[in-house]
Amino acid sequence: MGPLRHAYLDALGIDRWVPRNAPAEVASAPLVESAPLPAVNRAVIPPAAPFVPLPPVSDWGALRERVAGCTACAELCRTRTQTVFGVGNTRAEWLVIGEAPGAEEDRQGEPFVGRAGQLLNAMLLAIGLPRETVFIANILKCRPPGNRDPKPEEVSRCLPYLSNQIALLRPKIILAVGRIAAQNLLATDVPLARLRGKLHTFGEANTPLVITYHPAYLLRSPADKRKAWEDLKFARATHARVAAAGSA
Ligand code: URA
Repeated sequence: MGPLRHAYLDALGIDRWVPRNAPAEVASAPLVESAPLPAVNRAVIPPAAPFVPLPPVSDWGALRERVAGCTACAELCRTRTQTVFGVGNTRAEWLVIGEAPGAEEDRQGEPFVGRAGQLLNAMLLAIGLPRETVFIANILKCRPPGNRDPKPEEVSRCLPYLSNQIALLRPKIILAVGRIAAQNLLATDVPLARLRGKLHTFGEANTPLVITYHPAYLLRSPADKRKAWEDLKFARATHARVAAAGSA
């Protein structure tokens, strides 16, 4: 055991174990002489201040800027290339919400641009919605490193941005793709299989919310594309009903 290790054990108040047959000078060696303790910063680190979201803003430019400069999550803002605000028509009637940017989205600054994005585009087009006619955003605006799941505290720090986007867009319908989006929008841990096939609502405006599978999941499990198609038709019918009621 080296002298520095002795020093740490002593500093921590942990007994040093010395072999019975160790020479007396080892057993009783005054460690401070051989290894001065490195200075330890004993200042009490105050607990992190509770996160207080800023009040919502009333225009897209200000919101985009606020998101771009966000440093609320220490790890994410250190590891991201850039924030991924969302993309699309700011007058869209449809809002599509995914989980979080992946590697390609982090590089390009736009949601759903990788393989899952191509399938999402095809899913939307199948119900008559070219990508540029909807608005697409994510629960998180930054890529979680290694594509891990978003942490609850990251979601709670980022959700005010999505709420602000929803308040500005006032969509007629929200389509949530995947478990993470569905569960966080509904504040539930009910499995996705039990959330799809039903009409939910989101927020104070009671915006209709339909849940379907994440396109990345569908790439891995193409057998479930049939169920996703049922969800998409259900969303299209819901939108038609809401739009008709709005114009009556
Ligand atoms: N998966 C998501 O949920 N969002 C993206 O933007 C890309 C992949």
